[in-house]
Amino acid sequence: MRIDIISCVPGLLESFFAHSILKRAQQGGYVEVVLHDIRDYSVNKHRTIDDYAFGGGAGMVLQIEPIARCIRALQAERTYDEVIYLTPDGEQMQQKMVNSLSLKGNLIMLCGHYKGVDQRVRDLFITKEISIGDYVLSGGELAAAVLSDAIIRLLPGVLNDETSALTDSFQDNLLAPPVYSRPADFEGHTVPDILMSGHEAKIEEWRYRQAVQRTRERRPDLLD
Ligand code: ADE
Repeated sequence: MRIDIISCVPGLLESFFAHSILKRAQQGGYVEVVLHDIRDYSVNKHRTIDDYAFGGGAGMVLQIEPIARCIRALQAERTYDEVIYLTPDGEQMQQKMVNSLSLKGNLIMLCGHYKGVDQRVRDLFITKEISIGDYVLSGGELAAAVLSDAIIRLLPGVLNDETSALTDSFQDNLLAPPVYSRPADFEGHTVPDILMSGHEAKIEEWRYRQAVQRTRERRPDLLD
């Protein structure tokens, strides 16, 4: 998989992709993440990429020309399965959506800023608009980081323990059950006996019941 992220502040994302699982995923050849600075595609010598909104109103708008040049340059090199725009008015990100994106080949993610992008970018180039939640961030970079992270950890081979993504919260519409590690007794707070019993089938059943109970308490909507 290859993910191209288009942003006017790509530096925000550099260190994010240079650590931990995301770094290992790239080093292992499971994914290639390439950051692009919209300013590099500006059509003037001042490298401007935004302008006032026609019709007035507060806030600058990311112009279509630099973004069109960047997307077209990428599409001339390879085909992309989706051109995603991160925006608070997009479809809300869910695990199912992430699962299906993780099966794709190449993705472009466009990060918005200011008052957004010229509507014609959305009309002409974008195939999918995604929001990571009902709140407004100062740009789409954190949203692109969240979406990329959720996708990349699902790519086969990226997680050490292949089964661990399958037992995540949301994969089966249940929240994950509680987990414990050593010490077995922390200042009198002990680990449930069943987990120390070595009885695999009973432990699985306990985990399932805990997951259902936690989901019922915290996210009953998932059980509908
Ligand atoms: N850009 C700004 N806020 C956002 C959000 N909630 N989701 C996706 N992109 C955004």
